[in-house]
Amino acid sequence: MAKARSLQCTFDLERIVADTDVRYIEYHDTLKSTNTTAVELLGPLLDNAPAVVLTPKQTAGRGRKGNPWWSSGGALTFSWVVDAADLPLTSERRPLISLAAGLAVRDALLDMLPNCPFVLKWPNDVLIGDRKVCGILVEQHAVAQRQAVIIGIGVNVNNSLCDAPMEIAQRATSLFDLEGHSFDLTSLLILILQRLRLRINQLTTQPRLALAETNGHNVLTGRIVTLQIGDTTITGLCVGIDDEGQLVLQTEQQVHRCASGIVVQWN
Ligand code: BTN
Repeated sequence: MAKARSLQCTFDLERIVADTDVRYIEYHDTLKSTNTTAVELLGPLLDNAPAVVLTPKQTAGRGRKGNPWWSSGGALTFSWVVDAADLPLTSERRPLISLAAGLAVRDALLDMLPNCPFVLKWPNDVLIGDRKVCGILVEQHAVAQRQAVIIGIGVNVNNSLCDAPMEIAQRATSLFDLEGHSFDLTSLLILILQRLRLRINQLTTQPRLALAETNGHNVLTGRIVTLQIGDTTITGLCVGIDDEGQLVLQTEQQVHRCASGIVVQWN
């Protein structure tokens, strides 16, 4: 079942439902933020979960730690909504969902562009070289005793960073800017949703492999990293990601295990 409020929807909603485990799509031509709409409609979305909130145009996208997320027409912006009780995961392993989402998007992008050097930046940014191509915002919300996991994903696909504010254009890129042609957004969305399910299942069947892969592709390992955690800033050598998915930074004084934060610099 797919629902589109649109004169002409740019996505093939029937194909998305047929080729993935998604049962319902809430589509709008424009939205402030797919994550915000997911929270607003959480009850009905959970009744039909896994569900997707999808729009080709976000006007107030949200990033991690309250930052705004810029995107223009041609970006892929959506939120995947699932009932936490339906995930094959204990609550201790739930923080790893964030890492699994990054791995899944990288997998899907590699399916489309096998020779492109996609890397991960903890916790789940996907980069090409040192430029960000995808951001992911994982949120957990409760409604009527049910706990939902919302995974919001924004990929710069057919949009150009030429249109972006300078500070974003300097550190981000898009598939269009890289390859010089457009991509089928429905196909990429299907690939991401399929890979997301596989990577989340892997957290139960082979959690160590998932962590090893995240570590292997993490661009921060071996670099001097500055992490902002609220009002605190830590600068240290990144020695990897631990079993709980925390970023491990070695300073002269001690080893810091960081569950969250924003990487503001890496050299
Ligand atoms: C980040 O890198 O800080 C996370 C960015 C997440 C952006 C996506 S776009 C779709 C979904 N809706 C939002 O408002 N945010 C996420």
